[in-house]
Amino acid sequence: MSEHAPTPAPNAATAPLLEVQNLSVAYGKIEALTQASLTVQAGEIVTVIGPNGAGKSTLLAALMGVLPARQGRIQLQGEALSDGGVNARVARGLALVPETRALFASMSVEDNLRLGAFRFRREAGSHHQHALQEVFELFPRLQERRSQLAATLSGGERQMLALGRALMGRPRLLMLDEPSLGLAPLIVRDIFRIIEQLRRQGVSILLVEQNARAALKVADRAYVLELGRVVMQGPAAELADDPRIVETYLGLHSRHQDKLAA
Ligand SMILES: Nc1ncnc2c1ncn2[C@@H]1O[C@H](COP(=O)(O)OP(=O)(O)O)[C@@H](O)[C@H]1O
Ligand SMILES: [Mg+2]
Repeated sequence: MSEHAPTPAPNAATAPLLEVQNLSVAYGKIEALTQASLTVQAGEIVTVIGPNGAGKSTLLAALMGVLPARQGRIQLQGEALSDGGVNARVARGLALVPETRALFASMSVEDNLRLGAFRFRREAGSHHQHALQEVFELFPRLQERRSQLAATLSGGERQMLALGRALMGRPRLLMLDEPSLGLAPLIVRDIFRIIEQLRRQGVSILLVEQNARAALKVADRAYVLELGRVVMQGPAAELADDPRIVETYLGLHSRHQDKLAA
């Protein structure tokens, strides 16, 4: 081979959207995530399920650059994610809706949404207007309440606003941390309908959930995280039929909740 042959560039067309290899994250001496590997292909919904304390939020925080990785590699479309922290990752197209839903309580619904578009701040206001219209189509309730203060919204409306705000940034990968947490079954159903709709629109989603039943129903592929380690993975439909998953994560209690939501 000629020494002038160009080094092959990372092939963004064939590389997974997100590739995480052997990622370990610790709080002081305590490791909360150990050698976790996972991928998300463009257009997929991938879910990470697991009990409380398994390391799910830690994984998302490390992907978002909120927590440093002790070890491992994170690539977006074949390119390493820099250590530039949160801003750099937002600029690369990552968005996280955290468990807390972190809204600006004393600002209106519309102003919260507009803040979500800050990665396009140098573009004309028409981008914002267009994105805002799309979010309102997805969440008519937010449009009805556009002037209302975020603090006065119900739990479900807050989750919709947090989702809508993340979408204003047109993320390449939308990461959701337990979007169903603390919501009534009917609202949970709405939220998962929206997640399905987003996938039909081509949004790639990494969904972290304790609600394994709902998550496995909506996802293409799934990973099970226990004590910081990936212990199972596969197509979501296969995991939903796996006796170990049925016994541990899809027990009677969740079936009861399912019935309430039906
Ligand atoms: N800020 C922190 N300091 C120390 N330990 C933490 C911190 N946040 C989480 N942990 C620990 O890390 C582990 C994983 O937590 P977390 O990622 O929040 O789990 P999950 O989101 O799956 O419930 C747990 O043992 C938790 O106690
Ligand atoms: Mg969590």
